[in-house]
Amino acid sequence: MPNIVVVGAQWGDEGKGKVIDLLTERTDLVVRFQGGNNAGHTVVVGGREFIMHLIPSGILHRGKFCIIGNGVVVDPAVLLEEIEGLRKRGIEIDHNLGVSDQAHLIFPYHRALDKLKEARVGPGKIGTTGRGIGPCYTDKAARVGIRVADLLEDDLFRRKLRMNLEEKNALFSKLYQAPTFQFEPIYEEYRGYRERIAPYVINAPMVLNRAVAEGKSILFEGAQGTWLDIDHGTYPYVTSSSATAGGACVGTGVGPTRIDQVIGVVKAYTTRVGEGPFPTEFPPPLMEQIRSKGKEFGATTGRPRRCGWFDAVLVKQAILVNGITEIAVTKLDVLDDSPRVSICTSYRLGGKILESPPAAIDLWGKMEPVYEEHPGWLMDTSQVSCFEDLPPQARRYLKRLEDLLRVKISIVSVGSKREQAFHV
Ligand code: GDP
Ligand code: IMO
Ligand code: MG
Repeated sequence: MPNIVVVGAQWGDEGKGKVIDLLTERTDLVVRFQGGNNAGHTVVVGGREFIMHLIPSGILHRGKFCIIGNGVVVDPAVLLEEIEGLRKRGIEIDHNLGVSDQAHLIFPYHRALDKLKEARVGPGKIGTTGRGIGPCYTDKAARVGIRVADLLEDDLFRRKLRMNLEEKNALFSKLYQAPTFQFEPIYEEYRGYRERIAPYVINAPMVLNRAVAEGKSILFEGAQGTWLDIDHGTYPYVTSSSATAGGACVGTGVGPTRIDQVIGVVKAYTTRVGEGPFPTEFPPPLMEQIRSKGKEFGATTGRPRRCGWFDAVLVKQAILVNGITEIAVTKLDVLDDSPRVSICTSYRLGGKILESPPAAIDLWGKMEPVYEEHPGWLMDTSQVSCFEDLPPQARRYLKRLEDLLRVKISIVSVGSKREQAFHV
């Protein structure tokens, strides 16, 4: 099997976990390359639901080596809890998990800063997951971050933690008038994590590139989605990492010449959690209907997801910036009860038609989506197991998406279970 990058082509929660689970069968290694426990990737196997936040979704398949790459920000408490939680449910985690020694660690002050920053900006907030992701990446870029490797070296760890606390505590007390953090409790807590995490720590670029040299295949598991990407998303309403395909190289140490394919995952409609523009967002009655049918509540925070029609303008741009070669369409079944389905094909802004969205975020609120309408199929698709058995209107809808996006749909998903999907 080739080396494949799987990315979200919308605003996250496209069903990447499910697609990774399907593809893992044919691969040797699965690696997360960015984000942290802001992600929630759901896989439903044998009637049991697993939600992965940090560990690659491939872990549910025995004998596959799963890696948390250098581009990921790791909250050690969450990682250890996830390992234990999976073990309790009978999932083997032993020599099949590796954590990059270059991955950055999330600390309690990152989580506190995340929440304080959001509270301070009030209405202009991003609606983050509050997991400390942004502040941790901020420290990484500011070159003061603490990495997994630093945790293993006691003197280095003490020094870096002290230095960080000095700076952060000044912020907490002076800017936010909030409680400060003491060195000892954090040091002791993280020293406890050291021994438990040490067995998993690896030189990930070495392991991954050796695997490539041995002819093994790698699946790169993206988190979030293209429109949440720090460069290509709806900035500033984005996450703080590179959720696009380029991030797979930076976040793992595997070079671009080793990547064979990029699969973009999209829902048959669109969702978004948190704040920020959303041109095709449904009006209230339709919102409620799709949200309840699609169970659109965040896998990480439980927040209701905002829902809207499929936005082909945004997905087209996602195809460009990721170099997407194939698309997986999920949640087709959620549209089963809709008498009509719409696709946004361009935007109207002040008498002009836009084929791509503007970079200036203020203009997004002034754009009107231009839709084409298609008849719905009004049939249950959740038991369909091949493209030919889909109702003709559903086939036409998917074909129309292929025409508009100029890329092949290779996987269709019609339910949350592992069996409810087929290759096209
Ligand atoms: P991810 O973050 O991209 O991995 O996606 P999430 O797991 O956050 O959200 C996708 C949700 O949709 C999960 O609850 C999945 O179980 C569910 N799901 C995935 N594919 C399908 C599908 O084809 N139909 C339905 N009805 N649910 C799906
Ligand atoms: P998966 O991998 C959907 C959103 C948050 C917020 C913004 C910034 O499951 O698709 P952050 O905590 O990252 O600083 O929040 O990004 N967000 C997600 N939305 N799915 C995700 O992950 C997300 N991870 C972050 O809601 O709007
Ligand atoms: Mg999710």
